[in-house]
Amino acid sequence: MAQIFITRKIFDEAIALLDEAGLDYWHNEADSPLNLSGMAAQLAEAEAIVCLLTDKIDAQVMDAAPKLKIIANTAVGYDNIDVAAATERGIIVTNTPGVLTECTADLTFALLLAAARRIVEADAYMRAGKFAGWELFQPHLGVDVYGKTLGIVGMGRIGTAVARRAALGFNMKILYTANNPKPEIERELGAQFVSLPDLLRQSDFVSIHTPLSAQTRHLFTLAEFHQMQPHAILINTARGPIVKEADLVQALQRGLIGGAGLDVFEEEPIAHPDLAGLPNVVMVPHIGSATTETRRRMAMMAVENVTAVLSGRGPINPVRTP
Ligand code: GLV
Repeated sequence: MAQIFITRKIFDEAIALLDEAGLDYWHNEADSPLNLSGMAAQLAEAEAIVCLLTDKIDAQVMDAAPKLKIIANTAVGYDNIDVAAATERGIIVTNTPGVLTECTADLTFALLLAAARRIVEADAYMRAGKFAGWELFQPHLGVDVYGKTLGIVGMGRIGTAVARRAALGFNMKILYTANNPKPEIERELGAQFVSLPDLLRQSDFVSIHTPLSAQTRHLFTLAEFHQMQPHAILINTARGPIVKEADLVQALQRGLIGGAGLDVFEEEPIAHPDLAGLPNVVMVPHIGSATTETRRRMAMMAVENVTAVLSGRGPINPVRTP
């Protein structure tokens, strides 16, 4: 059995790095999710696991892999890994920060614009042959984006990249929450550090960019939607469980908020069944980082972390322990 256990199909260039380094690997080329509890033989010999965010790597998996030195997640978020259990066992956890920032910010803006301008509904209307000519009161009147207020919940790398697009490209006013104020971003973009209630009350668009943790799980419930403006649009390209999805459905049905653009869902791959019936929702299947260039960079980065650790150099992108 091999030194490196790769749970899912990854790019050939990333595999080539392992070949060049003379490392021994087992690769799930089938590209279907594995049941890790049934992989005892692979885990027993594994010094490294390269995984995706859909692989739950908990204490049980780690205990089945006594030689494990590194878990390399092919994602920037790492809520699928029990980092505390890894730390206790001296196992390094790495992620892929930076390489997907701009790509995810692009998708965030695509959802924001699509929800604001009702692009998906209008596209379906055209395809159905319903366009009967320009009218002042066309069926797809949306809301302005240019010059509006965007509230960013979590001003990390992706939040900042979204803020830049909004401030520099769309003259938007930026409000944000974060663990600490970011004076350099305030200087660059005129962004204002505010409390979450102030952000919710004042924003025309609210975009979530915080990691999922015990503190952020269900950060958005009916109570938060009640504080938002009835025309406000919520965008989530972070993690589904940050929003209580049943409450979001109610908020949209009752008109507490105006719409939503969703890339992530509470129980992926399932989305709340009522979301599909809501015309004011644009939803896509967790494609924030889904361009070929970005996904390739993510796979390379995950594997580079493995080669660094197994060759005795330190990890390149260790995650902060909680
Ligand atoms: C994608 O959701 C990621 O965390 O990279």
